[in-house]
Amino acid sequence: PKAKGWLSPGLSLYQGFYCPSKIVPNIISFQNHFQAHDQDIVLASKPKSGTTWLKALAFSIVNRKRCDQLSNCALLKSNPHELVPFMEFSLYANNQLPDFSTMSYPRLFSTHIPYESLPESIKQTNCRIVYICRNPLDIIVSHWHFANQACLEHNTHWTVEEFAEAYCKGEEAFGPFWDHMLGYHKVSKENTNKVLFLKYEELKKDTLNQVKKLAEFIGFPFSKEEESQGIVEEILKLCSFGNLKELDVNKHGKFMPYFENKSYFRKGEIGDWVNHLSDSMVEKLNKVIHEKLNGSGLTFKENC
Ligand code: A3P
Repeated sequence: PKAKGWLSPGLSLYQGFYCPSKIVPNIISFQNHFQAHDQDIVLASKPKSGTTWLKALAFSIVNRKRCDQLSNCALLKSNPHELVPFMEFSLYANNQLPDFSTMSYPRLFSTHIPYESLPESIKQTNCRIVYICRNPLDIIVSHWHFANQACLEHNTHWTVEEFAEAYCKGEEAFGPFWDHMLGYHKVSKENTNKVLFLKYEELKKDTLNQVKKLAEFIGFPFSKEEESQGIVEEILKLCSFGNLKELDVNKHGKFMPYFENKSYFRKGEIGDWVNHLSDSMVEKLNKVIHEKLNGSGLTFKENC
């Protein structure tokens, strides 16, 4: 049996993108009712691009002064998805009017929805969006593992070829991936104050500078004093794959009724696709990537 909501037929085409059919009403509620504030920070991504990592980093950056020491940070006791909730999976799940009264400013939210379909108030206010992008080949492999291993709802048996084929056609959750990436990429070029476009690969290779850039963009730059005290490094360590994966809160428990917290921490590396995708699949995918991204300025160095 195949779990629904990963690939067709469990997806619905809504406003030009594919999404798990059961969350369409949540997306509509989010679009119709959410009122953004200038201070809000929205973390946007395609699934499996490094959302969890970005949530951990943004949360630690924003809250570093609230908890007297990072060793007290709420990240040690809660899964990043609890601290930075998804609009369409959590806040607006069967709920048109979520209670935001307990959230302090700046509020941190996340979403997988494409830029074009975000509520108008997110676009019109001064709220900021951080987008994390990842090499589609690694997204596919990560997504395939996630679908087969993470979903407790069903005993699923997708093949990696099924995932790769679906991505070639753009028929994947929140896809087509090229439209998703290019939508945010375009706004990040036109309005540098609105969207910060990060890449998982750059975050892995140059974490320190990328995290400083992130902190500055969201309005919480590190002071010289903090830098000399090693606060940036502390945040990097706190949010590192090895640290988060080993926390009790991430080893056990579930995020929503059906995702195990541990399934958000699999391997955390660049280029795992070489171990799973055949040469012909890679060739086909690279052709699609090249055709769709051509001329946009968005490239993935390792494979294209
Ligand atoms: P892999 O499956 O390739 O290991 P998302 O958070 O968007 O669902 O993405 C999950 C991917 O990010 C998984 O990739 C996961 O292992 C990786 N990841 C999670 N936390 C990370 C961290 N702190 N550093 C680097 N990668 C991380």
